[in-house]
Amino acid sequence: MNYQWYPGHMTKARREMEADIRLIDLVIELVDARMPLSSQNPDIDVMAAGRGRLILLNKADLADPAVNRQWCGYFEGKGYQALLINAKSGEGLRSIQGKVQAACREKIERDRRRGIRNRPVRAMVAGIPNVGKSTFINSYAGKAVTKTGNRPGVTKGKQWIRPQKDLELLDTPGILWPKFEDQAVGMRLAFIGSINDDLLVKEEVALDLISFLSETYPDALTERYGAPGGEPLPMLEAIGGMRKCYKKGGEVDLEKTAGMLLDDFRNGRLGRISLERPKKGNGL
Ligand code: G4P
Repeated sequence: MNYQWYPGHMTKARREMEADIRLIDLVIELVDARMPLSSQNPDIDVMAAGRGRLILLNKADLADPAVNRQWCGYFEGKGYQALLINAKSGEGLRSIQGKVQAACREKIERDRRRGIRNRPVRAMVAGIPNVGKSTFINSYAGKAVTKTGNRPGVTKGKQWIRPQKDLELLDTPGILWPKFEDQAVGMRLAFIGSINDDLLVKEEVALDLISFLSETYPDALTERYGAPGGEPLPMLEAIGGMRKCYKKGGEVDLEKTAGMLLDDFRNGRLGRISLERPKKGNGL
């Protein structure tokens, strides 16, 4: 399957992101814990230069716990503050305050030297589509929202919310675009549902997912469907047969089976699966 994908509106998104970054001290960058590098955009390094960075590995509940720990170590080894979270349940969010302080230590020190005390850290949330930005903003700041927009020095129309005393957050997240030029990245984005399924041939995505799972999580399909191992196409057919996904004439409905498989994977019903692991040469 060819995973080339050219999202529109990205120039506008970039311009908005660059304008917003001027207002802030810290970028809270959300990535998908199942594929932290493939769900990251390296342009953020340039755009966020001189700002603090906190990397939140979201959807940690869907990813392999052992690999999650490796990724945290990977980012920390590169000098970033990193945290595993589940924005949906709120797990991990309590540790954010400490991480924000650590990520902005230099700025806080600088303020102190200039006699500025208790100026809140200003931050924005950023990430590629579907990574959980809105869910995060709602669960982290939802209840304690104090709108503090439209004051001098703040771009008109920008709203700030204050999830805690020493942190102000732009209420709209910065949208980054994925690195869709890379086939392997495109494939992972398709697996997690970050490329509109209408742009893809579902059966082919499902076949690629079966190949990946057979290699890296060989028990996942057997445990869920009782499907024996084998080549991807016969496996997809077997899964369809076992789940009684038939067309009118009695043959297996591969499209429907593929849709079900992808849906099961995306909702964690095949287990906690990581699509990417840190390895040497996996540099940012
Ligand atoms: P975005 O703003 O970055 O585009 O992402 P958004 O918050 O809309 O989240 C995209 C999907 O990811 C939502 O699912 C959301 O519920 C889910 N999600 C966000 N964070 C987590 C997490 O930590 N764990 C899990 N398992 N899911 C998460 P949806 O299917 O679009 O909506 P819904 O059916 O959950 O309401």
